[in-house]
Amino acid sequence: MSSPLTVALLGGGTVGASVAQLISESADDLTARIGRELKLTGIAVRDASKPRPGVDSKLLTEDAAGLAASGADIVIEVIGGIEPAKTLIESAIANGSSIVTANKALLAAHGAHLHKLAEEAGVDLYYEAAVAGAIPLLRPLRESLAGDKVTKILGIVNGTTNFILSKMYNDGADYSVVLKEAQDLGYAEADPTADVEGFDSAAKAAILAGLAFHTNVTSDDVYREGMTKVTADDIAAAKSLGYVIKLLAIAELTDDDKGVIVRVHPAMIPVTHPLASVRDAFNAVFVEADAAGQVMFYGRGAGGAPTASSVVGDVVAAARHRITGSVGPAQSIYADLEVRSIGEAKTSYYLNLKVSDESGVLAAISNEFAKHDVSIQAVRQDGEGDAASLIIRTHEAPESRLRATVEALENMTAVREVLGVMRVEGAGA
Ligand code: NAP
Ligand code: HSE
Repeated sequence: MSSPLTVALLGGGTVGASVAQLISESADDLTARIGRELKLTGIAVRDASKPRPGVDSKLLTEDAAGLAASGADIVIEVIGGIEPAKTLIESAIANGSSIVTANKALLAAHGAHLHKLAEEAGVDLYYEAAVAGAIPLLRPLRESLAGDKVTKILGIVNGTTNFILSKMYNDGADYSVVLKEAQDLGYAEADPTADVEGFDSAAKAAILAGLAFHTNVTSDDVYREGMTKVTADDIAAAKSLGYVIKLLAIAELTDDDKGVIVRVHPAMIPVTHPLASVRDAFNAVFVEADAAGQVMFYGRGAGGAPTASSVVGDVVAAARHRITGSVGPAQSIYADLEVRSIGEAKTSYYLNLKVSDESGVLAAISNEFAKHDVSIQAVRQDGEGDAASLIIRTHEAPESRLRATVEALENMTAVREVLGVMRVEGAGA
């Protein structure tokens, strides 16, 4: 039998430990599927003395640079963050290793550079686990949908925030308590600000947009709002109107087909929308394509074992290529579309205003909407003494016009306070 294919694992935390376990538990099956044995040569960690149940302690090393440069057939990077992960991957590629990583932050910032290095070196760069945990999503986008024209991607791509928002919505749970729970379950990033402020979703949205629209999109190109400003009151208001609030990642072609808009923000979606029932750390992504129509991907978006499934799937793909002396598809960024600002994005909106309860106020407010060409779909007014609470739903309008409307409303004396403005997605589903 031929000699084993060597695998070096950089990182032995939530994901790394699960990857090591999966490779060891499925060793015979993996050998049969690949046609050669996989041999784990080392696991690089910061502190090799930490107890790691289920991980062979003889494999642990604190010399990540040495392991990365060891010339293993495949180097798996699950350390996370930009450095030292970037330097370690560069060194591994320079030493002829194929790369499997779960690092969306790195890919969304330096994906084009790493793809170029991998292509020049004739090695694979796979990162299925970087977006939506266990869900096979990147390979279908890169390969199965390669014959179609993708027009929009809309989804929940962060398990931590979906876990928190679900618990707040269903159980009235407290934000900080649920965040701690998500951390304990291994869903959150090392710094959970990345999750709750939307950086993690933005990195994933950039990766998805790049693959779907054949354009280099980085995290900096993504409009980002996190979920930390979503209050228990917002959630209660959404509930009373038949909506749920989710942190969404959206990437779409502009009307002229020459640009893309990529955004991450909380949004209200109707309880009847399929994304509304995506709870806990599950993720779901809709892809809309001209010929295929709507395709939905659903599954566990975070956690050690689900993420390890995607990582090891990539290891199998890279291992098969090592045997045949081939590589997977290179990065496709031929379309080079312009990344446009959120001002051009069209959606409908929910507004919650506290206004003076006087004659003519409603007419004056609706006049401001009309002046900015934002059409009102529904209004609900509840009196509260000399004031009234006004809930307004608009039809679809460009973000820039809605912002101008809100600015005008804030300057009206009859409007005492703009209590809330939120985008509404999926109302047509
Ligand atoms: P983690 O639990 O914090 O593990 C990170 C690992 O990297 C630890 O073993 C740590 O060593 C090691 N490490 C950190 N800095 C190092 C350095 N300078 N040199 C050597 N080793 C170092 O993180 P994780 O949750 O497994 O996430 C890893 C990656 O997977 C990240 O890119 C993350 O975004 C991505 N990801 C995570 C999930 C998830 O659900 N957790 C899902 C998809 C993708 P010590 O153990 O000694 O501290
Ligand atoms: N922190 C990420 C999340 C891990 O919660 O979705 C999976 O990428």
